[in-house]
Amino acid sequence: MLVRFVAPFFFSSWFLLSSPVVSSPLPPFYPAKNASVIIIGAGVTGIIAARTLAQRGVSDFLIVEGREEIGGRLQDIQFGTNSVTLELGANWIHGTQEGEGPANPIWLLAQNCQLDTRNVEYDLSTHTFEFFQYPHIYADVHAATYDYSGLRMARNQEDMSARTGLSLSKWRPHTPQERAVEYLLFDQEYSQTPDESSWFASAWGSNYTYDATQGGFGGGIAMSVDQRGFKTFLSTEAETFLRPDQILYNSVVKQIEYTNLGVEVQLNSGEALFADHVLVTVSLGVLQNDEVTFVPELPSWKEDAIHAMTMGIYTKIFFQFSRKFWFDTAAALYADHERGRYPVWQSLDHIEFLPNSGILMVTVTNDFSERIESMTDEEVREEVLSIMRIMFPEADIPAPLAFFFPRWSQDPLFRGSYSNWPVSFSTERQNALRAPVDRKVWFAGEATSRKYFGYLHGAYFEGQKAGLAIAECVQGGCNTSDHYGEPDQIIM
Ligand SMILES: Cc1cc2nc3c(=O)[nH]c(=O)nc-3n(C[C@H](O)[C@H](O)[C@H](O)COP(=O)(O)OP(=O)(O)OC[C@H]3O[C@@H](n4cnc5c(N)ncnc54)[C@H](O)[C@@H]3O)c2cc1C
Ligand SMILES: *[C@@H]1O[C@H](CO)[C@@H](O)[C@H](O)[C@H]1NC(C)=O
Ligand SMILES: *[C@@H]1O[C@H](CO)[C@@H](O)[C@H](O)[C@H]1NC(C)=O
Ligand SMILES: *[C@@H]1O[C@H](CO)[C@@H](O)[C@H](O)[C@H]1NC(C)=O
Repeated sequence: MLVRFVAPFFFSSWFLLSSPVVSSPLPPFYPAKNASVIIIGAGVTGIIAARTLAQRGVSDFLIVEGREEIGGRLQDIQFGTNSVTLELGANWIHGTQEGEGPANPIWLLAQNCQLDTRNVEYDLSTHTFEFFQYPHIYADVHAATYDYSGLRMARNQEDMSARTGLSLSKWRPHTPQERAVEYLLFDQEYSQTPDESSWFASAWGSNYTYDATQGGFGGGIAMSVDQRGFKTFLSTEAETFLRPDQILYNSVVKQIEYTNLGVEVQLNSGEALFADHVLVTVSLGVLQNDEVTFVPELPSWKEDAIHAMTMGIYTKIFFQFSRKFWFDTAAALYADHERGRYPVWQSLDHIEFLPNSGILMVTVTNDFSERIESMTDEEVREEVLSIMRIMFPEADIPAPLAFFFPRWSQDPLFRGSYSNWPVSFSTERQNALRAPVDRKVWFAGEATSRKYFGYLHGAYFEGQKAGLAIAECVQGGCNTSDHYGEPDQIIM
């Protein structure tokens, strides 16, 4: 059975009971539906939503993806003289599994396809960092991790910034070295500063992902070095259920029109697709920048929620050299006078990762990412080389063989890297961010996850929840269940 036609939306009991009836701008004969459900995006959220629909017997869906492949923010390139596969986006499974405790679903999918991963210990005492010029920084790291866990004692009062939480936990960095360590522990995870981040939400993030005693998956972090690409776990899973006619590649959506009769999804190519439901899994950044427009405009409770959450940027900068002249540890910190200026360095040319690759990586985030995205490649390369000359004054640094960094915020299919929860974002707004509009235009993605925003596993669980809710709606009438109800708790 190739296409299963379900009862059109307007025959559902929900429609008959609802009022007022809005007159439709569409012709009375509505075009044949291309699918019951159109899913926009073939990232983790879209693929897991599709799998959930298929498991629930709703095979009449169509995934519309702007790129040429499955994966979304799981993206890799072939880099350097020996064409090593490097991850431009997600690279780590944060929180794997502890004993028989709950497992991170991404960890299970990775095991299904024998993904080549390396364990990266979060405990900084066992994961050796070389801290340039500042050996005493080890003590500071320990103090910071200790005080960071003090965050978790978040009291039941109104939210404040993570900076307030850290300060109350007696972490008050004054030196470049202390700021670099704080950056490593905080900004590297949330892509923004403690000042920009919610105290409570960042404590949830750390509880639910890393703390096995709080329902989290545990402290283990697995890094993919798989030469098939990290996205293999997702494409392998897709092969178990997805037929080629259920996905359109290279198809960018520019507009979604929704009426009582259903939804019309317009592509850049001029083509239009019709369905009863649409699940929008594009990133928060794409929504914030109106890369997809809605007709009629989204209601103000939805617009407010979209713009109240933040999209952060996390940028990896890769170099390849003919010989290794840097540290022998897996990573190192550089403490510049300016916070966030090329602080975290990782050696992929390491026995644990990609030995003899000659590859060195440095990461920057948010404001600093925006800054370098607006510079030319050459300007960024020269600037980073000048930092290396400060870090390795004795070394005769050869000209790099290869250099690359992705511009996540300039890419209209992403407009940033992953979301971060700001202080001003309330749980009511979070409900509104995930709630469907007219139970026809559904939203899911890493940014709609309360417990795991930002992470791959957040995208996984949101895709699953949206798939369940839509399947129920398609098959048995639309329920107001879980967080997919009307946003009636919104305080205006
Ligand atoms: C640099 C970076 C590092 C990260 N590191 C980690 C990590 O180590 N661990 C971790 O857990 N998470 C990490 N993340 C976050 C993780 O990648 C995301 O949480 C997750 O991939 C989001 O999945 P998604 O399906 O919600 O969104 P996406 O992957 O963004 O999927 C949405 C899809 O929609 C498509 N799309 C967008 N606009 C349109 C349009 N107009 N028409 C058609 N299609 C469109 C996109 O091409 C994309 O394929 C990282 C992200 C980045 C960018
Ligand atoms: C969508 O449906 C229309 C009308 O039946 C059809 O002409 C078009 O080819 C379909 N598009 C796709 C991508 O299936
Ligand atoms: C996180 O876990 C700690 C216990 O380790 C608990 O006291 C705290 O309330 C939790 N924080 C949140 C925000 O859930
Ligand atoms: C949805 O509604 C049906 C019918 O009223 C009910 O049997 C079912 O339990 C509901 N599901 C949820 C998740 O509320």
